Amino acid sequence: MNHIRILAFACLQLLIGTNVTTAQTYARNGMVVSSSELASNVGVEILKKGGNAIDASVATAFALAVTHPAAGNIGGGGFLVYMDSSGSATTIDFREKAPLRASSDMFLDEVGNLPEGINLYGSESTNNHIGLKSVGVPGTVAGLYLAHKKYGHLPWADLVQPSIDLAKNGFELTWSLAREAIFFESNSPIQFLKDYFKKDNGAVTKFGEIWKQTELANTLSEIRDHGHDGFYGGVVAKEIARFMEENGGLITKKDLRSYSAVERKPIKGTYKDYDIYSMPPPSSGGIALVEMMNLMELANLDSIEFNSTGYFHLLAEVMRRTFADRAEHLGDPDFNLSIPIDKLTSKEFAKTRFQNMDMMRASPSDSSKFGQIYDGENTTHFSVVDKDGNAVSLTYTLEHSYGSGMGSPNLGFIFNNEMGDFNPKPDYTSSTGLIGTNPNIIQPEKRMLSSMTPTIIAKNGKPYLVIGSPGGRTIINTVFQTVLNVLEYNMPVDKAIEAVKIHHQWLPDHILYEKDVLSPDTKRNLEDMGHQLTPVTSLGSLMGIIIDPENRLIIGASDSSSSDGKAVGY
Ligand code: GLY
Repeated sequence: MNHIRILAFACLQLLIGTNVTTAQTYARNGMVVSSSELASNVGVEILKKGGNAIDASVATAFALAVTHPAAGNIGGGGFLVYMDSSGSATTIDFREKAPLRASSDMFLDEVGNLPEGINLYGSESTNNHIGLKSVGVPGTVAGLYLAHKKYGHLPWADLVQPSIDLAKNGFELTWSLAREAIFFESNSPIQFLKDYFKKDNGAVTKFGEIWKQTELANTLSEIRDHGHDGFYGGVVAKEIARFMEENGGLITKKDLRSYSAVERKPIKGTYKDYDIYSMPPPSSGGIALVEMMNLMELANLDSIEFNSTGYFHLLAEVMRRTFADRAEHLGDPDFNLSIPIDKLTSKEFAKTRFQNMDMMRASPSDSSKFGQIYDGENTTHFSVVDKDGNAVSLTYTLEHSYGSGMGSPNLGFIFNNEMGDFNPKPDYTSSTGLIGTNPNIIQPEKRMLSSMTPTIIAKNGKPYLVIGSPGGRTIINTVFQTVLNVLEYNMPVDKAIEAVKIHHQWLPDHILYEKDVLSPDTKRNLEDMGHQLTPVTSLGSLMGIIIDPENRLIIGASDSSSSDGKAVGY
């Protein structure tokens, strides 16, 4: 759509005063794009009351913990990237930490093997003891509290209250939640998940019925009244520690008391005239995104047709190299004091990486080196812009969908299974993708490496594109391709989000592709070049906003793969 058509359509929406359901939503004052319409509404109400982008993000994050429990959470962790309207950027790291009693070999058997058939994840295990060992010390409440304390405007209690109301009064169960409710009731080996969507009378809540979460409302009330300490101290911490102790988990009151979120300097890169701001370690997302954008800048994209065989080959080779570097170097910066951030994000380094790329053949991934097999697929991302042009990009997670699947019935929230993002077997790397490199082995109080890539792109020094996605390691590549679609190919945000995506992560050595949108010819050609291809239904579920200063418009879109997602503006 050209500028005039965008403007005409946007004016129509603004005149009739509604957010017409369309691929893109247009607004003048502010916007929240999240994977739950109810949560986006909560954030926008905060913006309307004079809250800034941080206030709206805090409220949206708590609301998602109620309305999108697969990934919205208070029992997990994540990252927030904030850029104010003048272009000054910072990040908040609230990634989970390994408990004090964790150790590098905690998932291995007596002879040092990672047992076959036993995974680290509660949601797939009938063994509660393994399941609860997969729980990292949650960071979400600490992160939201820190972000609010430093950059928020409205009172904390006003930001938590809407989620308490949603949990206490309930909301109509959406079709996608209703399907999950039925699935868990009949299939989950974990009682907590079986009961999760049940009503007081013991029946599972059905599509369109009101679903209330009384215990979660009580936990959120503690957080409303006591802030950080409402989760990491008092009755909530006491109950977490009791539940862990009784069920074989590792987290103690001491773990909770000593947890803190950290403000960190963003990773900064450039692509042509744009500035890229994204998350530093313990996320691998920012470094990998900048490295890939640097590599793409070296390619002569005018000579390669978009979405051609050559284009996908180039993307796959760029991803392969970057993921090898990710596996070799990245981990918690508080434990790995010499991560070569400047080198990996430099234009010079990209040149050395680009040189050995064969444009006609797939290069082999060396199976004696890097990769990582355990990878959660469920996170959630939201993007926020306020009336002053401040922006927040926030991704947080429980690791797998519904995390460990476990939680105390007295608290009503689900614990993460984020320990699976560590390298579980030191010094052992296999071609199937198990990785054993040192920067990300388990140590007490260490944060596990993440792929979450909340990102803000600045144009002329001001926030321009606010973007992120759920997934596991696919996050980095779906954000990368979406950013490229906007910056290089000038796509509107909805088209950039929906365009076909691929994923390569070094090991295992194959390209994941969206099966209904990659042409069979392209697939065959890529195979002829030496690539292995594996189909998937879709990659990513991006939530993005573009700020168009020329037309004074905020334009948002939520990925069509998110059934409950919505861009809401005002
Ligand atoms: N749990 C997904 C990630 O942090 O990358």
